[in-house]
Formats: sequence, structure tokens, C-alpha cells
Amino acid sequence: MAHEVRGVIARSKGEPVSIETIVVPDPGPGEALVAVQACGVCHTDLHYREGGINDEFPFLLGHEAAGVVEAVGDGVTDVQPGDFVILNWRAVCGDCRACNRGEPWYCFNTHNASQKMTLADGTELSPALGIGAFADKTLVAAGQCTKVDPEAPATAAGLLGCGVMAGLGAAINTAAVTRGQSVAVFGCGGVGDAAIAGSRLAGAATIVAVDIDERKLEWAKEFGATHTCNSSSTDPVEYVRSVTGGFGADVCIEAIGNPKVYKQAFEARDLAGTVVLVGVPRPDDVLELPFIEVFGRGGALKSSWYGDCLPSRDFPMLIDLYRQGRLDLDRFVSEEIGLDDVEEAFHKMERGEVLRSVVVL
Ligand SMILES: NC(=O)c1ccc[n+]([C@@H]2O[C@H](COP(=O)([O-])OP(=O)(O)OC[C@H]3O[C@@H](n4cnc5c(N)ncnc54)[C@H](O)[C@@H]3O)[C@@H](O)[C@H]2O)c1
Ligand SMILES: [Zn+2]
Ligand SMILES: [Zn+2]
Repeated sequence: MAHEVRGVIARSKGEPVSIETIVVPDPGPGEALVAVQACGVCHTDLHYREGGINDEFPFLLGHEAAGVVEAVGDGVTDVQPGDFVILNWRAVCGDCRACNRGEPWYCFNTHNASQKMTLADGTELSPALGIGAFADKTLVAAGQCTKVDPEAPATAAGLLGCGVMAGLGAAINTAAVTRGQSVAVFGCGGVGDAAIAGSRLAGAATIVAVDIDERKLEWAKEFGATHTCNSSSTDPVEYVRSVTGGFGADVCIEAIGNPKVYKQAFEARDLAGTVVLVGVPRPDDVLELPFIEVFGRGGALKSSWYGDCLPSRDFPMLIDLYRQGRLDLDRFVSEEIGLDDVEEAFHKMERGEVLRSVVVL
């Protein structure tokens, strides 16, 4: 039996999203049907709507979610109906070249549901990041469901499904920030603030938040920034050097996806330091760097896909830290909204009024 539910659809490039009836099939082999309880609005949803990811419209948006498994298909043993789960976009295959060399967080063949969700007229939908959770129910591969402690509220838990995990992981996993280090985070939205929170968890001594919005800088302090720099009025490279003994930060994390800001992060880094790009560039962006500096500064220039997380390892651990009061996920939730409010939430995001608007179902 298929389920007719409401979903938030992006029909074409740049057009406002609409609420439509979607058809969600019952789970087949290896799949799970999930009743979504909460789904955060991530900048990547807006990238999809703007055609910045690919042209496979119509998209079923939403991908930062938690909910309860309603049904599972044949052969599914890891989760069962009633389990409280965070949805992930890294259901690892266990058999690609990354998995085989013991680095499953790079898995090149992650699983999604094989059946398609559709519009009422049968048009196949492309679920954002293989999830599509701005909907009452969604169909995913069972491996996309990571079971966590049901004591955590869905609004907080769901955030680990994308942006907050990406930011935490950019600091903890990709940059491997450690005690006493200096970190500069460029762009303090949900992802950047999570990178700040992750740096604090990992023991960074100096954490510089860089943004062009004063309000974002105030919030960044609440997540652990020890210094802030408004880069619309202060040169962030000079500033980062000034608070790191003149040298630059050990780790610079770019959480916007802007080549000009990436260059700032590159220049604000100490010799042999690490730059991590977690922001997603637009397809036509070009980065220009003095090549001699790429060599001369040494260290590492890394990209962080989903914070190099392994959901089965990282989600339950981070929910434990949340429950112990050591990771304040609730602080990311600026507002709880309904499915109808996603378009307005995009505008609030563009105006810098929110860290995360979270749709509650
Ligand atoms: N790598 C991943 O796996 C992954 C996962 C989720 C999101 N992302 C990406 O991370 C980025 C950030 O997402 P978000 O949800 O935090 O977005 P957001 O819009 O909430 O935050 C972006 C922040 O950057 C600031 N900013 C914009 N231009 C700036 C500039 N020139 N200088 C300094 N600050 C500037 C804004 O004021 C805002 O605070 C997006 O590109 C998103 O697609 C990546
Ligand atoms: Zn794999
Ligand atoms: Zn996202």
C-alpha cells in the first residue's frame, strides 16, 4: 500500500517551494518507511532549489531529520518499527574502494531507497541527499536510519543528520582539532557554529569566529568562540594573526563555500596548518591562489563531506554528549515551524535571522 502525504517540493530553478501531495511506497527489500518528526532547514536545501546541486527537478526537499521507523522491508535487521532514528545520507556499502581500505566515511557507493517517491501524477521525485524529509513520511534505505537514544528530542537529534554533523565533524574528524590548538571558523551559520562547538569539545584553546553579521558573531560566542571578527569591517587575516601570536591559526574552517572567503582562510592559517572546506561552492566558482604559497605554507588543504562522519559511530556518541549536557544541540534551534513555512525559512536564512528553522511534524 502506498501512502499519500504532504511534502515540500521544488519544481523548478529559483521558484518558491510548494506543498504537494506525494506518494510514498511501502518499503521493499532493504528499505525503511519513516514517520518524520522533525527536519531542519539546511542551506543545502536552498542550493537544491536554486539549481546549484543538479537539474533533477522536481526535488523533495529536507534532509536533516529524525523520526520513527514505521515499517521495514524484507531483509532489514538493523532497525525495526518503533525505533527512533536519525536519517543519514551515508549508508555505507561496505564494498567500494573506500570501504575496502577501511575508510567507510568516504564510501563512494552509499545506499538510498531503490523505489521512487512520486507526485500524485506519477512524476518521480529526487529526494534531497537521498532523504526528502520535509514530508510526513519518507522512504529511505534501511542503512540511512541510525538508531539513537529516544530520550533526545527529535528537533535536536535531527540536526545531526546534516549541517551540525558536518560542522562538528569538520573540526573533530577532518581537521582532527586537538587540545590547545587555535581554530578560525569562517561563516557562522548552523554549520560554522557546529564547527566552533566541535573545536571546543576537542579542546581548542583559541577559537575565532568570522562572519559579516554581528548577530551571528554573538551567537558564535555562545557555542564557544573566544574571539570574533566582523570581516565586513576588519581584515580577518590580520585579525586571526593578531590573536595567534602573529602566526595564524592551526586550523581554518571555511563554512560558506565562497572562494574569496576560502582565500582568507588559506591566508589566516599558520605554516603547516590545515584548511578545511565544509561550505559547498557553486558549480561555476573558481578559486585562485598563489601557487608558491600553496607549496610554501605546507600543511593540508582538505574538504569535508558530511564532516567525514560515520553515522553508526558518531550519531549515538554525539547524542550521549548532548544528554550529558556537553553538546548544546538545542541552541541551534532558532524556531520550530510547520511544513508550510519552509519558503519563509529560506528567506530568514538569507537575511541571517536564524541558525536553524526546524520543521516539526
Ligand atoms: N560539507 C557538507 O557536508 C555540508 C553539509 C551541510 C551544509 N553544508 C554547506 O555549508 C554551508 C553553510 O551552511 P549553513 O546551513 O550554515 O548556512 P547559513 O546560511 O546558515 O550560514 C552561512 C553563514 O556565512 C555567513 N557569510 C556569508 N557570506 C560571508 C562572507 N563573505 N564572509 C563571512 N561570512 C559570510 C553568513 O552571514 C552566515 O552566518 C553551505 O554552503 C551548505 O551547503 C555542507
Ligand atoms: Zn562503500
Ligand atoms: Zn544539509
